[in-house]
Amino acid sequence: MERWDAIVVGAGVAGLSAARALARAGARVLVVERRRVGAEASSAAAGMLAAQGEAEQPSALLGLALRARDRHQGLAAELREETGIDVERARLGSLHLAFDEAGEARLLRRAEWQRQAGLELEVLGGAEVREAEPNLAPVVRRALYVPGDRWLDNVRLTRALAASAVARGASLLTGRPATGLVVDGGRVAGVRAGTDVLAAPLVVNAAGAWAGLLAGDPEPPPVEPVRGLIAAFEVAPPLCRHVVHSPRGYLVPRGDGRLLAGSTLERAGYDKSVTAGALRTVLEAALEITPALADVRVSDTWVGLRPGTPDGWPVLGAGGLPGLFHVAGLYRDGILLGPLVGEAVAALARGEEPGVDLSAFSLARFRR
Ligand code: GLY
Repeated sequence: MERWDAIVVGAGVAGLSAARALARAGARVLVVERRRVGAEASSAAAGMLAAQGEAEQPSALLGLALRARDRHQGLAAELREETGIDVERARLGSLHLAFDEAGEARLLRRAEWQRQAGLELEVLGGAEVREAEPNLAPVVRRALYVPGDRWLDNVRLTRALAASAVARGASLLTGRPATGLVVDGGRVAGVRAGTDVLAAPLVVNAAGAWAGLLAGDPEPPPVEPVRGLIAAFEVAPPLCRHVVHSPRGYLVPRGDGRLLAGSTLERAGYDKSVTAGALRTVLEAALEITPALADVRVSDTWVGLRPGTPDGWPVLGAGGLPGLFHVAGLYRDGILLGPLVGEAVAALARGEEPGVDLSAFSLARFRR
């Protein structure tokens, strides 16, 4: 039986980030993935680094998200250097639109507390918004511009993290669902993949929407899939250059000429159907932001399963057995948070300081 220093379950952004950090620290790491690298939410996402713009109040999650957003800057440079892959981190920030008086009041309240908290943003009037993005709907009354909330290509990010983790010595086992934990003497001793036993004294559970399904976990993280639909438009020349949020959806430009429109929040188990109702919701939100999209070809649609938790916050740190750690429940922020929290939990698993305060995200909060 082959033995590893650590096994990471899940080859998405969070798991690969943890594996990459563990490998850098000299550990023999195996990543066990049920399908292939980035097969689920990490590829389905639109790639927004939306740390700040949607926040309605200061919170521990906002603090973590801002640290995570900063981490992406250095990470993009590291990945380019190590793998030659450019994750296309955008130079422009995001716009948050108001279409009516109530929406305007909400944006202004958000702008006020965020300014007081020292966060960078600008309030734009309707004419300024249309100057920044001429194809936005004429009814837009006001917008917040958040320069730090950018986008990147999450598919490239996932590939680059995998390439870097492997270059640092991590091994990938794909197409092999981890079905359960091996427990020995009251602590974790590895992972079962069907009849195979993969031995390791540390297990990092980064299995996305599947994180709560490892047999033998006495306290599984309360994660359930929350389905989101994305529609891709094929646009040339580009119809917008910023990430644009409305109260009902968002548009995210891509370097390859596509414009991604999202999304829905549907609790439908592990069913990955693209339904007519969800498609209508996404298309209506997209057309409300940019009516000119009515004449543009929809080139693709897909859904992703976000790992949701009862309070919408992630589960980070120690699990229900010694040696078991979670990077779970990243919900709508997997691309944003994954690198920072994957690295932080990898440090914790090795008995080191994680470098960020994870106390608000413990599994223990669900026991209270
Ligand atoms: N992060 C955007 C979404 O989950 O739809």
